[in-house]
Amino acid sequence: MRRLIDRLEQNHCLEKEEWIALIAEQKDAEYLFERARSVSRRYYGNAVFSRGLIEFTNYCKNNCYYCGIRRENRGVSRYRLSKEEILDCCKKGYALGFRTFVLQGGEDVYYDDERLADLVRSVKAAHPDCAVTLSVGEKSKESYQKLFDAGADRYLLRHETADAIHYGRLHPKDLTLAARMDCLWHLKEIGFQVGCGFMAGSPGQTPECLAEDMLFITKLKPQMAGIGPFIPHHQTPFKDEAAGSVELTLYLIGLLRLLKPNLLLPSTTALGTIDKNGRERGILAGANVVMPNLSPVGVRKKYALYDNKICTGDEAAECCKCLNARMKRIGYEIVAHRGDPAEEPGGNYVQRNVSQSGGIYQ
Ligand code: SAM
Ligand code: FES
Repeated sequence: MRRLIDRLEQNHCLEKEEWIALIAEQKDAEYLFERARSVSRRYYGNAVFSRGLIEFTNYCKNNCYYCGIRRENRGVSRYRLSKEEILDCCKKGYALGFRTFVLQGGEDVYYDDERLADLVRSVKAAHPDCAVTLSVGEKSKESYQKLFDAGADRYLLRHETADAIHYGRLHPKDLTLAARMDCLWHLKEIGFQVGCGFMAGSPGQTPECLAEDMLFITKLKPQMAGIGPFIPHHQTPFKDEAAGSVELTLYLIGLLRLLKPNLLLPSTTALGTIDKNGRERGILAGANVVMPNLSPVGVRKKYALYDNKICTGDEAAECCKCLNARMKRIGYEIVAHRGDPAEEPGGNYVQRNVSQSGGIYQ
């Protein structure tokens, strides 16, 4: 497997059968992580970027089988933050050093194009030096364009799986892989920095499905890819399914770092949920982003996508302190700037940007 890992590092692509072999066997994991860390260091030094996550609505018109806030889960207490509440989260986040805000929510019809565009304009007016990322699901190209014109910089829309049959196993019939892919290509065409991604170990996922994910990411060339383990939620159709493993998630993070050296790769909350050192292990496998929660503590538990989600009880400042200490312990530093993708290797990125703004949360 070392041969394939080396070739991936050199050529940034593999054939489908090669991906399948690597993923099915998951061999030489420590070697993979060492290579991934070294590539990550070349582009990003020991910097870890942070994005302040604001989960601003848990209303959703969709019914994804895996998701705790799906429409048909009557056990969810629904909430929607007002513009003022969201701006307040940003203000507190800004004081803590955040320079990217991720506004994430279910597909909530109340937040139509006008309201979302107004929200984006307001955040950008209050914090012109910050990047705004949206993660609010599938929309028409026209809607995406309006949000881009309002000032949104980035958009996260996990493709969930690049295998159409597997997509059908995870979603009801009204959601299709073709529609999801159209959205991602539209976002790219418009000029967003785009994040796709998928859950590791989702029900029915095979090494062939994951090989398709890798081929899709090779083609799409996203700026970011969100990979976290699937974790069952007790009020969903997948309540009795097994969770994805830490090992598979880490292995996929390592492969993605070699596939696209400057990729923004979060070490996710889901990874920290299935392993108490999951976020540190994610960074050590090649990830370079963390996304602490800035949502008001009062609503955190209501945005339960899966069971036992961590960081739902502490104020943002506490979470940041904890995460900063965790990163420091493994030799990394959370930095206070927008964290756009590095354009070239060589450590310039770190010297140019990080030293100007310094670390945060100290
Ligand atoms: N509505 C937006 C969307 O669909 O992109 C954003 C919210 S959605 C809840 C964000 C992501 O959470 C999904 O893309 C999915 O991969 C992840 N997710 C949902 N349920 C999950 C689960 N049970 N375990 C792990 N991740 C989950
Ligand atoms: Fe809509 Fe999960 S089903 S956010």
